[in-house]
Amino acid sequence: MSEKLEKARLYEIEEAKNIPQEEKPAFHVSAPVGWINDPNGFSVFKGKVHLFYQYHPYSRDWGPMHWGHSVTEDMIRWEQLPAALAPDQEYDREGCFSGSAIEADGKQALIYTGVTTEKLPDGKEEVRQNQCLAWGDGKDYVKAEKNPVVTGDMLPEKCSRVDFRDPKVWEDNGTYHMLVGCRSEEIPGQVVLFSSKDLKEWKFETILAENSTGEIGVMWECPDFFPLGDKHVLICSPQHMRAKGYEFHNGHNSLYFTGDYDSEKHTFEKDAPVSLDYGLDFYAPQTTLLPDGRRVMIAWMKSWDSCVIKEKQRWQGMMTLPRELEYRDGKIWQKPVREIENYRKNRCCYENVKVGESLSLEGVRGRMIDLTVELQNADGIMDGSRNSGNPNQEALDVYNEFRIELARNEEYTTVFTYDRKRQILEIDRTWSGVQRDVVCTRKLQITDDRQNLKLRFILDRSSIELFINDGSKTATTVIPTPVEADEILFHSDGNAVIQVEKYDIVL
Ligand code: FRU
Repeated sequence: MSEKLEKARLYEIEEAKNIPQEEKPAFHVSAPVGWINDPNGFSVFKGKVHLFYQYHPYSRDWGPMHWGHSVTEDMIRWEQLPAALAPDQEYDREGCFSGSAIEADGKQALIYTGVTTEKLPDGKEEVRQNQCLAWGDGKDYVKAEKNPVVTGDMLPEKCSRVDFRDPKVWEDNGTYHMLVGCRSEEIPGQVVLFSSKDLKEWKFETILAENSTGEIGVMWECPDFFPLGDKHVLICSPQHMRAKGYEFHNGHNSLYFTGDYDSEKHTFEKDAPVSLDYGLDFYAPQTTLLPDGRRVMIAWMKSWDSCVIKEKQRWQGMMTLPRELEYRDGKIWQKPVREIENYRKNRCCYENVKVGESLSLEGVRGRMIDLTVELQNADGIMDGSRNSGNPNQEALDVYNEFRIELARNEEYTTVFTYDRKRQILEIDRTWSGVQRDVVCTRKLQITDDRQNLKLRFILDRSSIELFINDGSKTATTVIPTPVEADEILFHSDGNAVIQVEKYDIVL
């Protein structure tokens, strides 16, 4: 083991002891100490689900990238393993950037971007990003003798050697494929495909997809590509993307294209991009296929432009709950992995509750909870006559605005406000305890054609993941609120009627 890796492994064991565990998420992967960003190598190896991540143990800010490592049997209880990679070779001395993992020949192969610098003829130094390989047993990894295995020189001439990163590898009929994020002089944002028989010798195949309209950001980070239903899905995270209506906020975005893939010719006919999440904290998602056939996605639960941590907190960065993906009615639906249901306790349920100015419900509170609120007559139709023998009566007192406050006490709150007529939901964490109230609000449009609005919130101390209408849209948001703030309040400006089902999550 290199000195650098040994140092990181000792440091994380010693320092993690000083971090109060009650403040950390209980069922989401988070940094043991220091900083984490993108999920890497999300995969199954010898019956367990492995998750690696971009990791800088020595400060709570981004720094020379290591790979951290956690493992799980059910995607809810995670076990911390020692750091897997450190930037300890000439070809990765500036960092071991994002990548993936795959089981091959009984071993676990990690494929990552090695970042280094090269001296140019004029004496200046320029970054080089190349794809590298390491082999391991699920805990300890040895970098391949011949690295990098894919270099920028294998790309078409106009493709960048500077922004060429985040390999996603999969196997199909005895051939390995690697998709890498890139950009070129002419096209800002593309993904390039390579193939191999042994993970060591690779061949450039094609530019699989690119930002042909020029509107989809700059560099396409962290690509993923997989079949779902009768379609293929390309996920990527374009940098510096301008918002369009209620889509593509957060600057650096995560989105998907569905389309048809011709695996012989390596062509992908893609439809328009769609946001993967509408909250404030979601980036660089990666998927894996479970042995039972589920396609599951996990993402970094943070965004590059927000800093939502407590003052003395010595760790920063968490992952979302893994989410089951389904392709239906022309789009992707996301649900929290069903294993979360094994940890639901203390069911508390209310039916047909009328919400006026302000309402709290006995037993409905908490910061580690699975809470579903179903709001009636949410479809923006004014007269409410669908259910009523007397439409005029109902028209008078139907609400226009409905609000839920979570993680609340006298000092703190995070507010979800639904505007019934415009069918817009607004998230506001201005009073959640953030030290800078920038990047605190987000609006999203509910587009489902249904009368009731179903909001499922999963809270794990410092995060709120919202699944709207059974996963038609999601909105993920981090809050730094002290865990004592655990009240939940409902408000409406007329008469809103709700169903509430709440469970504590107990591990
Ligand atoms: C995305 C990203 C990746 C890169 C990694 C570096 O968040 O910029 O493209 O590999 O982070 O930490």
